[in-house]
Order: sequence, then C-alpha cells, then structure tokens
Amino acid sequence: MMLKIPDVLTPDQVRQCREALEQAEWADGRLTAGYVAESAKKNLQLPLDHPVGRQVGELILNQLSSNPLFISGALPQRVLPPRFNRYEGGGEYADHIDNAIFGVPGSSQRVRSDISATLFLSHPDEYEGGELVVQDSYGSHTVKLPAGHMVVYPGSSLHRVTPVTRGVRLAAFFWIQSLVREDHRRAMLLELDNAIQSVAKSHPGHGALPRLTGVYHNLIREWSDT
Ligand code: NI
Repeated sequence: MMLKIPDVLTPDQVRQCREALEQAEWADGRLTAGYVAESAKKNLQLPLDHPVGRQVGELILNQLSSNPLFISGALPQRVLPPRFNRYEGGGEYADHIDNAIFGVPGSSQRVRSDISATLFLSHPDEYEGGELVVQDSYGSHTVKLPAGHMVVYPGSSLHRVTPVTRGVRLAAFFWIQSLVREDHRRAMLLELDNAIQSVAKSHPGHGALPRLTGVYHNLIREWSDT
C-alpha cells in the first residue's frame, strides 16, 4: 500500500527546516550505503549525528505523533529518527531495496523497516527530475509531492530516485516498524477504519458502530506484535 500523507509540516515549518538544513554541512551519501547500494547512490546526506538533523527530525516526529492518517495507516510501533538527503547536479539513487533492520543511533534498539517514508522538503517546481519511483505488483508508481507532504510505502519495495537535472531536491527519509508487520493487513485495517469514520460521520449513534469498532480492535489484537 502506498499512502500519501498531506501537510505533515506547515509551510512555516518547511521554511524553518530548510533554513536549518541549508546551512548544515552535508556528506557523501555513499558513506551510509550498504555494499550493494553504494554504486547505485549518488547524493548527499546529512551525517547521522548532526545536531540540525536531530532537531529537524524531532519536529517531524512530533508532527507525526498527532497525524491521524499516519497513525491509522502505519500503525507505528517504532520510528527511526529521520535522516536527510539532498540531490542535485544529476544526483540519483538507482533501483534498490532498503536494509531490513536499522539500529537506532545512541541506543541498543533496532527498527525493522516494515514501512519506508519520504517527506518532501523542496517544492516540485524547484527541481527537475527527482521522482521517487516505487514498484509493486501493480506496476511502478511515480511520486513527487509538495513540500511538507509525505509518502509511505512497504519497505520491501524496489524503488529509485530519478536524476535531478535542475535545482535541488531536499527530503527527509526514515523507516517505521509497524505493530502490524504485513502490508495487506495494514491496508485492510486502514480501509475498515476509514469506513467506520465515514459511518460515524453520516450516521452518528448507529448501532453497528461499536461492533465494527470492536472488530477493528480485535483484528489489531490478532495481528499485532508489540
Ligand atoms: Ni531507499
């Protein structure tokens, strides 16, 4: 399931994040790529322990913690602190699948990358190229969202970022371990949740609502690992 989450950051917050990030010192993205991904990756990345990255990352996680679509779509259990990349001058990231497990810097905790997230920080008209292309069994999906919007997709997907031939593409990216590991189950839960919300709006007090809500929670009980 690919899910676009609008307005994770307000335009003001985007501006604030970009000002901080533009003054930071960036490093070659290949330093953090695995052995196979190394040759595919041509971009810049903020060093993982960079204070600006930590500060902007906290703002993003704080916004997400009260975002209903993120919570019901991802059912987050653990979220890796956001990382930041920068593509320009033909920079790209060829087809790859992300690592399965990430250590949380400064702790012994690990995050299984059930879900990959990209939060766009540049406006689409500021750069040419730089599309995120994600493959699934229905074909390939091209994503380029307004600044402050985010896309999440299964961590198991083959994906790439096409060359940025003009301007600069700034983004935050990170991974989420979900309470519900299987993508198709998360998709059904989101669909059920949306349907319940819509009935609750159009027919408040309808007798089926508590039972449907009960099924939702019972499915989570059945499928989640905590
Ligand atoms: Ni990736």
